[in-house]
Amino acid sequence: MAPRILSQEVAREFYLLRVDDEKVNYFEALWSIPEKVTYNAYLLVGNGEVVLFDCWKNTYADELVETIKGIVDPRDITHIIVHHAEPDHSGSLPRVLEVNGFRAEVVTYSMGKSILEAFYKISPKFRIVKDGDELALAGENIKIIHTPWLHWPETIMSYLSGRKILLSCDAFGGYSIPRTIFDDEEVVREYLPSVRKYVATVIGFYRQHIIRNVEKIQSLGLSIDMIAPAHGLIWKRRPQLIVDYYRALAEGRPDEYKILVISGSMYGLMEAATRVAVEEVERLGGRVVFYRFDDSEQPPFSDILGDAIDSKAIILATPTYEVGIYPPLDQLVELITKKIPQKPVLVVGSYGWAGVAAKKVSEKLGGSGFKVIDVIEFQGSASEKNIQRIREGVKKLFESP
Ligand code: FEO
Repeated sequence: MAPRILSQEVAREFYLLRVDDEKVNYFEALWSIPEKVTYNAYLLVGNGEVVLFDCWKNTYADELVETIKGIVDPRDITHIIVHHAEPDHSGSLPRVLEVNGFRAEVVTYSMGKSILEAFYKISPKFRIVKDGDELALAGENIKIIHTPWLHWPETIMSYLSGRKILLSCDAFGGYSIPRTIFDDEEVVREYLPSVRKYVATVIGFYRQHIIRNVEKIQSLGLSIDMIAPAHGLIWKRRPQLIVDYYRALAEGRPDEYKILVISGSMYGLMEAATRVAVEEVERLGGRVVFYRFDDSEQPPFSDILGDAIDSKAIILATPTYEVGIYPPLDQLVELITKKIPQKPVLVVGSYGWAGVAAKKVSEKLGGSGFKVIDVIEFQGSASEKNIQRIREGVKKLFESP
């Protein structure tokens, strides 16, 4: 089935080229995304020059060339600005250059050049740019902003001074295939959970760099009428909303009522403990988001991380398995320590003959700066005394700053 492609002039002689990737199941071959994703490239035309900003994944190289042909002759592209060398944006660069006859200059950060050469074994004409450079291209003044670790160290953004447009690449993007091109109010409401999931999985590890780069962009005092990311919606109605949302996620500003409960239970012995935790959260006015690993369900880490990033606290219940943490939760805890801002945690464990898992979870999370409120580990199923401690632990989670 041919992919859906949206090609539209979104500002004067500035075109969005968006492909909706409905084939992808695992972003970065890691993160389950049934909601899918878009790749957004842009084209600027003027003064006899044509500037292409980023490309699409190589799966859609031919479609990108055909889409460009709907606006200009690809041989007339004079510059290709590669904001970020990750192949979801650069994969079809070799094909575009081939059709272009390698006439265009590839404009990128120095490290971007070495990555592109290594990935694709190509030798186009490169123009290396650095932070603060201003390029006069296609009748526009393009200011280059180096935004390291959003998402890789070589990543740059472009600011089109005449049109007041910030091309932000991965930053300010999200998963899913939004119904619209722009940030219509109703669509934004549907879209933000996909942004949250994208930030947690893709940029969560680099969250301090979100804060640094947002501050850097703000310090430049740019007047921004539109943010044009490489994934998802274009922000035209309220561009500041997505900047503030990114910053809030990076700073770990939580939804004060949202408690994430993650429970692993091999034979159901954890049931009473997690049921009590859920009831107690709800009794105290909280909202539970519950993920259960058992013999009928193994939820995707991507969804759990997306819900972890803005939760007030986490309740994690795990059985002991082979002198360690139940394997899926072991892997999940590792990801949480790397990608999720620190927050209060209540750890519950169950074991058959020797308790290990809860202590190990506590050591891992505590050692990464998470505030472990209590560790309640029991043999078999929870006793009345354990249940009481779980209730008290939930109360402390709410009281914890
Ligand atoms: Fe959308 Fe880091 O690539």
